[in-house]
Amino acid sequence: MLQLIKRCPEYTLGYKAYCQELYDNNVIYFRPTNPNSIDEDWFSRTKSWYDKKEKGLIEGQPISFHYWAVDNGKFIGEFQLRTEFPEKVMLDIGSIGYAVRVSEQGKGYGIEILRRGLEIAKEHGMERVLLTINDKNITLISQLNGCMNTAPYQ
Ligand SMILES: CC(C)(COP(=O)(O)OP(=O)(O)OC[C@H]1O[C@@H](n2cnc3c(N)ncnc32)[C@H](O)[C@@H]1OP(=O)(O)O)[C@@H](O)C(=O)NCCC(=O)NCCS
Repeated sequence: MLQLIKRCPEYTLGYKAYCQELYDNNVIYFRPTNPNSIDEDWFSRTKSWYDKKEKGLIEGQPISFHYWAVDNGKFIGEFQLRTEFPEKVMLDIGSIGYAVRVSEQGKGYGIEILRRGLEIAKEHGMERVLLTINDKNITLISQLNGCMNTAPYQ
């Protein structure tokens, strides 16, 4: 069963493989971490930066929470939630970003990550979310249609 979990050291290698697949396939809309920078110390090296991001302590960056999507021990994708609405969120990146590793696309994971992610947004107390749709991520429309009957937002 697909789960969205907080980042954790156990899935660092899976995260690296996911980033590598997006890089190799030139996924430009959702640019992940450069896989070459992910080594065995990467998680501990970056932890305080992500912790600060959750508290809004990184200048110029909206408060954001990062979740990893795993299914039965396998790294599937990620989900990012921005809980406030500064100009960058309103005019550019929206409240939600997510992606599925290329080798696992087309299996329904994207819709499931979005559905579960919207529940998490509710748990964060968000009354509304903003999804930015443009010509580079137009697939979001079918994703939204796919999860609307079970999503916590209308
Ligand atoms: C968008 C993305 C998350 C979809 O993940 P996925 O696991 O392949 O999606 P699903 O299997 O849940 O597909 C759900 C629906 O989206 C449609 N879909 C998925 N990828 C598509 C594509 N590239 N073009 C057109 N439709 C697409 C599927 O056909 C399906 O629709 P259907 O139920 O009517 O057949 C994935 O392609 C991705 O990671 N893209 C790069 C990052 C990105 O654009 N993120 C979105 C916004 S930040």
